Amino acid sequence: MDFRNKPLRNVAFAFLFMTSLGYAAQDKQQADYRDYQNAPEHVKTFYKTQHANQTYDFASKKLSQYGQLNHGTYSIWETLELLNKMVDESDPDLELPQIQHALQTAEAIRQDGQPDWLVLVGLIHDLGKMLAFWGEPQWAVVGDTFPLGCQFSDKIIFSETFKDNPDSKNPNYNSKLGVYSKFPQNIGLKNVIMSWGHDEYLYQVIKEQSSLPDAAKFIVRFHSFYALHKEGAYQYLLDEQDKTLVPWLEVFRKYDLYSKSAKTVDVAQVKPYYVALIKKYFPKEKLQW
Ligand SMILES: [Fe+2]
Ligand SMILES: [Fe+2]
Repeated sequence: MDFRNKPLRNVAFAFLFMTSLGYAAQDKQQADYRDYQNAPEHVKTFYKTQHANQTYDFASKKLSQYGQLNHGTYSIWETLELLNKMVDESDPDLELPQIQHALQTAEAIRQDGQPDWLVLVGLIHDLGKMLAFWGEPQWAVVGDTFPLGCQFSDKIIFSETFKDNPDSKNPNYNSKLGVYSKFPQNIGLKNVIMSWGHDEYLYQVIKEQSSLPDAAKFIVRFHSFYALHKEGAYQYLLDEQDKTLVPWLEVFRKYDLYSKSAKTVDVAQVKPYYVALIKKYFPKEKLQW
């Protein structure tokens, strides 16, 4: 397995750093999650860097680069195990390895009797974090996502830090509709360039390699777009199909956030159920990444 040294070192560092903070998600009330004003300094620094660097040009280039899916061939379960080495620096609520976040989310959905495709979304939704293994910095992998090529909403967390983003001074990009103004209003999210990260990457991977329903693919693609599904911003970019799918983001958010717990899932015990579920919606065992 070819792990480039730098990302692995970063991942190991992030893990040690967050463990030493002792920022446990255990026994939290719902209001305590995503408390960014009282977030650790490294989370604030993360967003300052992300907001300065995620430009329309950057995200467009990453989309065409990774859209080629030429970074290797892996099964879903293999990527889950690879991500077990990673902790998300942008997340103030989680210090467990990613496989536990995946399984905790999926198990919470399963226990609520939701459709099996939603359970599978719980399992796979963060697998786009494989970007870290391909050498991408954390700010191009994790964190909330937002539209590019148009005005930054003040509903985005730490929106004041967009002053460091060159797009905020570019008249092509800083009006309400920006590059989308040449299209009729309500262009639809499928035509919007979002900040580059694990959501869009995994969507590129699964869009033609799985038989998951549109709602599942929409959740994968936009689950980190909190300004939309939590704050209601950017309604003017949504088309009719988006409007019918946004409620799924709200459903999913509950599981993605509130299933985070220090109590771990027994991987060996649940694995057979998930291997069968993956098989149902992914015709080929190995996917192009
Ligand atoms: Fe995510
Ligand atoms: Fe997640």
